[in-house]
Amino acid sequence: MDRADTDTPRDQTPDLTPGLSVRDEFAIFEHTTYANSCSQGALANRVRAAAEEWLTGWDANGAEWEFWVERNEAARAAFAGLLHAEPDDVAVTTSVSQGVSALVSALDLAGERNRIVISEYEFPTVGQIAHAQELRGAQVVHVRPEADGRIPVERFAEAIDERTALACCTAVSFRSGHRHDVSAIAEIAHAKGALVLADSYQAIGALEIDVRTLGADVVTGGTVKYLLGSAGLGFMWLRDSLRSELLPTQTGWFADEDIFEMSIADYSPHASARRFDSGTPPVPSLYPGVAGMELIAEVGVPAIEAHVRSLNDRLLEGLDALGATVVTPRGDGEHGPLICVLSTDPNALVAALTTENIITSTRDSNLRISLHLYNVEEDVDRILAALAANRTLLA
Ligand SMILES: Cc1ncc(COP(=O)(O)O)c(C=O)c1O
Repeated sequence: MDRADTDTPRDQTPDLTPGLSVRDEFAIFEHTTYANSCSQGALANRVRAAAEEWLTGWDANGAEWEFWVERNEAARAAFAGLLHAEPDDVAVTTSVSQGVSALVSALDLAGERNRIVISEYEFPTVGQIAHAQELRGAQVVHVRPEADGRIPVERFAEAIDERTALACCTAVSFRSGHRHDVSAIAEIAHAKGALVLADSYQAIGALEIDVRTLGADVVTGGTVKYLLGSAGLGFMWLRDSLRSELLPTQTGWFADEDIFEMSIADYSPHASARRFDSGTPPVPSLYPGVAGMELIAEVGVPAIEAHVRSLNDRLLEGLDALGATVVTPRGDGEHGPLICVLSTDPNALVAALTTENIITSTRDSNLRISLHLYNVEEDVDRILAALAANRTLLA
C-alpha cells in the first residue's frame, strides 16, 4: 500500500452541513433512528474505511511504525484543532482514565494541599481515581447538587480552599445533561491556587470547547461519542505553564523526551504535553479516530452546536406537550447535546423504543436522548411519537 495515496486531499472533500447533507455517511440511518451519541457516535462510512485501512496496511506492509507515529501526531493535531490549542499542549491518551491517572500521579498529595474536589456529576472514572489517591494521602470532597439537580458555583466555592490541589468539574453530566459553568468554577479555584480539570467527553464535537477561554487548566475527553471514533483513543490538554511543573510518575516510553533512544537509564519526560502520553499508541483506534475528527472539523463544531440546539428545542417543546419531566435544565449554557427525561421504568422505555428502531439509553431513572450532526427533525418527531405511545413509562 502506497502511503502517499491514503489521505483524501483536503480540496476534494465536499463542504458538509449538519443534517441531511451528512446523514448519508451513516449507514445506520437506513433502518434506525439513532439518538445515543452520548454512549457512542454512529459509524460513518469513512470511519469504517479508516478502520479497515489499519488492517490493510498491516497486511501489505507489516509493522508500519513510522506511519503509526504519524497517525498519532495526526490525532494530536486533530484534538488540538478542536480545542483551539497547540499540538504540543495535547497528550494523546488511550482513555480519560489513563490521562487523569497520569495527571494525579504528578500531584503532591502528601502535604497540606491534598484535597481533590469532585462534582457529583463526574464520570465514575474520575471519582474512582480521586478516591484511589486516598492511598497517597488525598482527601476527596464531593460537591453535591441542589434539589433541582443544579450544582451552583457557590457549592464549589464552599468546597474549594487553600488545601485543594485539584477541582474536577465535568463539562456536561453523562447522567443528567447538566452543564457546569467551568469558567466560573475555574475562577474560584484559581483564587485558591487549585488546578481545574474539565472532562469534556459529553461535549467535545457537539459543543465548542475553546481552551483559550474555558478557564480549566486541564481538559480531557475521547473519540467514542461526539467525535465519531472508536474506543481506545483520548486526549488530555494541559495549560502550557503546567508542563514544566507537572512530572507524572505514571508514565511510559512514549512520554520520553526521545522515544527511540530506548534508554533504561533514567526518567526524562518530554518537554511538551507528550509527557502525559504513555506506551505504544492506540494504533487501531488512531485511524478511525482521526477520520471521525476530520468529519467533525469539516462540518464545524459551531454549525453542529447550532443544529443540535435547534433539534433539542423541538424535542423539549414536544416533551412539554407530552407533560414529560425533563431533568436537564434548559437555561442558556445549562445543557449540551444530551437531554434526559424522567421515566418510571427507564429500561422498559429504552426497550420499547428499540422495538420501534429508535436507539436511546438510560442512566439512573432517566431516558437519555442525545442528538448529533446526523439527526434531523423527522428523528425528533419519531422519538416524540414513540414516547407518546409509551406515555405511561414517562414520570
Ligand atoms: C463524561 C465521561 N467521561 C469519561 C468517559 C469514559 O472514560 P474512559 O475514556 O476512561 O473510558 C465517559 C464515557 O464513557 C464519559 O461520558
